[in-house]
This record gives sequence, structure tokens and C-alpha cells, in this order.
Amino acid sequence: MNIKQLKLFKKAAEKITCLTAYDASFAKLFDECGIDVILVGDSLGNVIQGAEDTLSVSMADMIYHTQAVASGINNALLVADMPYQSYTNAEQTLENAQLLMNVGAQMVKFEGGSEHQAAFEILQANDIPVCGHLGLQPQSLVKMGGYKVQGKDALSAQQIMDDALLLESLGVCMIVLECVPADLAKKASQALSIPTIGIGAGVDCDGQVLVSYDMLGINTGHLPRFVKNFIQANNNIQAAVNAFIKAVKDQSFPDDEHSY
Ligand code: KIV
Repeated sequence: MNIKQLKLFKKAAEKITCLTAYDASFAKLFDECGIDVILVGDSLGNVIQGAEDTLSVSMADMIYHTQAVASGINNALLVADMPYQSYTNAEQTLENAQLLMNVGAQMVKFEGGSEHQAAFEILQANDIPVCGHLGLQPQSLVKMGGYKVQGKDALSAQQIMDDALLLESLGVCMIVLECVPADLAKKASQALSIPTIGIGAGVDCDGQVLVSYDMLGINTGHLPRFVKNFIQANNNIQAAVNAFIKAVKDQSFPDDEHSY
């Protein structure tokens, strides 16, 4: 899998599948099932470290888990999250992105829009592929007032659209849209030539991502409405992952029950 192929998927209206992984064994299993993209998410703060939020995840944590995941993958594209406070200025962003690329990431992801323009620019100038993350940004939970759907009013919807278009113009290769109304995600996906990957953003995104521990029923805490448990109706992890891939590709997931 590569960036060109993901763009071809968008052009051909073939949906892109993505799951999070944090270790080699899960990554290998997802890869063998044929997942398109594997994300080493800073959600590892929640599901691996048992923290309330993602803020305590460090660069050392991301490097350790990215290296582990990379060793399990043959085909999927590997995206690694940049953790909280690891992209506060251009130089720091480049240095940390290089550390993740050096252990096997093929793209780095970080949250936010125009406020990080210098960070996007320096990665573009150094040929490091970037995935944006707009809508609900878990690293800014306090600022955003908690786990809330973003872009519900005209002003904040316009801000998300403006940021998405800016990111594309800055060379970003893909954008995660988290917890935004399905009609806004549809408009953004149509306006962009780069793929959007939705999580709680409706079926019209170019692809879908879920936290693997959520969709496999491992995380038994409070789950957001957009999470579907794929293991309940399937016998084992492989069958659940195959069901997720099939449901994303045939657009039966997410349905209205799992969208806003
Ligand atoms: O950290 C993560 O798992 C993520 C996904 C929720 C997209 O960023």
C-alpha cells in the first residue's frame, strides 16, 4: 500500500480501511486480513496504558510501539501519531517525525489545522508524508469541552472546511475526520482530492478507522456512539476484522446508528 494507491482508491470510490495497532502480533493479523492502513494511534494512552486521555503519551512510547507494529506489517501503510506537545514548532516537528520514520512509519499524523502551518510546511519540505486530524482532537479535549461532536454550527463547520482545504494545499496526503456531522464530512470529502478517513464522520468519507480495542470488544469502558463491536457477531479476531473490512468496503458501516 502506498499514498498513490490510496488516491486511486478515492478516485475509484473504493473505501479505505484502517485500524489502530500497537504491537507486532495485532499488526500482522490485521495486515494478513488485508487492511489498507494501520495507525499506531496515541489512543495507546487509553487502551494500552490505561490513562484517562492521550496527553501522557510520549515520543519514546510512540517510537517503541511504531517499531513493534512495523515489524508485523508486509502490505499495509503504516501511519504513526505524533503525541501531545511533540509538534509545537517546526524544528521539533521535523526532529520527532524523523524519529518515527526511522523506525518504520511511512506517514505521521498530528491534530489541528492552520495553527500548525509551520509544522506542515517543514514536513512537506523534507518529504515526510503527513496525515491531518480535524474535528474532535483528543489532545485538545479541555479546549474542545470534552468528547463532543465538532462542526455542528455554521461557523465551526466552515472552520473545519477551511482547515481541510488549507492542509491539502500544504501537501497533506490524507485527513482523519473525527466526530463531525456526516453531511459536513461528505462535503469535505467531495471538496478534497486527498482521501478523508472518518471516525464518527459518516459513510461518505473515503475510508474508515476504528480503534481496534474498541471494535474487538477489548475496551469495555464507555464507548462513543460511532464504535461498532465486530466480534460479537463473529467467532474470532480474524473474522471480526474481515467483517469490518467488508462492511467498510460495501459501505454498510458506518450506518446512521454509528454516525452523527
Ligand atoms: O489515536 C488514535 O487512535 C486516533 C484515531 C482515533 C483516529 O487518532
